Amino acid sequence: MGPEEEREVVETLRSGWITTGPKAKQFEKEFARYVGARNALAVAHCTGALHLALWALGFGPGDEVITTPFTFTATAEVMGYLGIKPVFVDVDPGTFNLSPARVEEALEGGRHRRVRALLPVHFAGHPCDMDRLLAIARQYELKIVEDAAHAAGAARYLDGRGLTRIGTVGDLTCFSFYATKNFTSAEGGMITTADDALAEKIAVASLHGMNKDAWKRYDTTGSWFYEIHDLGFKYNLSDVHAAIGLAQLRRADQLMHRRAEIANRYSSAFRACEVLQIPYAETGIEHPWHLYVLRLKPDLLRIGRGQFVELLKERGVGTSVHCIPLHTMHYYQRAYGYRNGDFPVAEDIYNRCFSLPIYASMSDEDVAYVIETVLSLAGENRR
Ligand SMILES: Cc1ncc(COP(=O)(O)O)c(C=O)c1O
Repeated sequence: MGPEEEREVVETLRSGWITTGPKAKQFEKEFARYVGARNALAVAHCTGALHLALWALGFGPGDEVITTPFTFTATAEVMGYLGIKPVFVDVDPGTFNLSPARVEEALEGGRHRRVRALLPVHFAGHPCDMDRLLAIARQYELKIVEDAAHAAGAARYLDGRGLTRIGTVGDLTCFSFYATKNFTSAEGGMITTADDALAEKIAVASLHGMNKDAWKRYDTTGSWFYEIHDLGFKYNLSDVHAAIGLAQLRRADQLMHRRAEIANRYSSAFRACEVLQIPYAETGIEHPWHLYVLRLKPDLLRIGRGQFVELLKERGVGTSVHCIPLHTMHYYQRAYGYRNGDFPVAEDIYNRCFSLPIYASMSDEDVAYVIETVLSLAGENRR
């Protein structure tokens, strides 16, 4: 957070209007321009965005949606809200993204005739293979809802379209501006779509299904009357949050550039270390590096991932593990019958991975310290 964020927030606090109003509208407009989307709708979080997207497409009990087990629970929990079954399909061992080949296998088998949509996650910000997923969606007449929680700013070359920002590809794309994301509004989310009817439906549903939001009712030309057009939710984004988001959005490319610089320094330093596996990035993409996920090669080490992470912590390097595959979690096993072992690629990544610190305000000295500490531990613990 810098002076621009402070200025935007103070201006909003002093304006006399703190909940959804002109700042949220401005944030929608500027975000739509940033990704090149026809419509952008600001919401309270990406979880709400995903819920609204699946709801707006009319999915419900008995429907299935194909997604990845290698994600945060929000991706699949929203399906539970609507009675949809998440059909997990294993991921690509390089990008950690939903594998188009495995998606095809799942659909060809004929076991999943109730699948209505694909819900890919652009893991760590690395865009999924959208050309192949679009082709599969066309073949099986499926919708595409993208979980772009990690992927604000990401882009990829698409057949016939050139470099294309995520947010303009699937039917609906859901972004997160949670505190740790590529840029943030503290809490917040956005849905983009080229479909005006879906956009209108979501705009109304995100605030109780009312035909007029409070800003429209209370401005000088407004009136007290409103109508409830549809089932609604309370997923609007406040102007205070939108103000932070606006200031951050204006610096989004600068923040992304700094994270890419850090990722490059990490990869250059770790590439030659035999016990480490650096993250893979395809050519022809713009990668926002929401996460930098390293993998250990356990055959070459005396300690496992858990101990490696503990030793890093002792030396002052905080890490995390992204992600714990959903099919290994109690809820997903109880609700849908998934079992450990169902998705070996996701499990192998999980068993060996951890995420290093990466954020735009990280100093060069801190980056150097992380590199030195990881390399020392790798050297000390080689078999
Ligand atoms: C892949 C993924 N999807 C969705 C979400 C939910 O985002 P939010 O916290 O904005 O609801 C997250 C949050 O970390 C995420 O990592």
